Amino acid sequence: MGVLSGDEQATLASGLVCGQGVIQIGFQSIGTNGGSMATVYNASRGKTIRRQIRGNAGASRRCNPTISRFVPDFVRMMPMSTDSPPAPSPATGTPAWWDGRYRAGDTPWNQGTVAPEVLAFVAAHPGRDDWALDIGCGTGTHSRALARAGYRVIGIDLSFTAVERALQAGRSERLAWYGIQGSATDLLLLWRQFAVVLDVGCFHSLNVEQRTHYAQGLARRLAPGGFYLLYTARPPMDPDAGGPAGIEPAQVEALFTPFLRLKDRQHGWHRPDEVRSDWWWWQRH
Ligand SMILES: C[S@@+](CC[C@H](N)C(=O)[O-])C[C@H]1O[C@@H](n2cnc3c(N)ncnc32)[C@H](O)[C@@H]1O
Repeated sequence: MGVLSGDEQATLASGLVCGQGVIQIGFQSIGTNGGSMATVYNASRGKTIRRQIRGNAGASRRCNPTISRFVPDFVRMMPMSTDSPPAPSPATGTPAWWDGRYRAGDTPWNQGTVAPEVLAFVAAHPGRDDWALDIGCGTGTHSRALARAGYRVIGIDLSFTAVERALQAGRSERLAWYGIQGSATDLLLLWRQFAVVLDVGCFHSLNVEQRTHYAQGLARRLAPGGFYLLYTARPPMDPDAGGPAGIEPAQVEALFTPFLRLKDRQHGWHRPDEVRSDWWWWQRH
């Protein structure tokens, strides 16, 4: 059994692990064997490191609300599920909905190629063991580009399947990559500040209330002087077409300018939905 370094504990201490090596924070359980043992995959070491959650010796084998006693008081826990099968048609945007898309291969964004904007960023700002956060990391295509460029990366995504696939890929490359199943609206659960935060296509799928929580978390978790690289699509002409909800540039600016300085912005086209898109380069005041 390995031991997490103090650094890793500081980052991950609030994460709840509900089985199969994916840290789960503040969201409902889909795990099968969680409870008493925190299991954290550290891809750089190519092995599983396990940490006992103190005081949880008698916990049930399943994730359940009792685990909430390990969560700081300020954390609002979502109801935990049992292992019942997912609803046949989960509501759009829920963990089950995103997970279903990954399991069905319905992921047109997941082409395995790294956006040139991200490659240009890491070429200009290589990491020196700095911590980076990839919000809505999916299967980790962009996270791995950050890790290859010298960052220690935490990827967070609602989809358990996506994080699990990202972990496998990160492990096979022996990258410093950690996966968390959780929500972009719960960033305050991470006890760390990040030199770089990346979001390629997650933020623009959130609703107005979720965006506010996201921005509050980002304001606290992006280190002073840190960079926030964001890709957003604008609202679709046909909102029922199935693409992201999208967000207008003015709404992005209204949310982030109170605590971020806009360094650059470039327009493009979001495919296959054929709506306008924006890349944003922000820096923390
Ligand atoms: C369009 S995909 C982009 C994935 C990845 N960034 C990439 O470039 O391949 C959007 C991702 O955001 C995740 N997501 C959606 N809502 C989320 C939320 N509230 N918190 C965390 N992840 C979320 C989805 O599961 C999905 O993996």
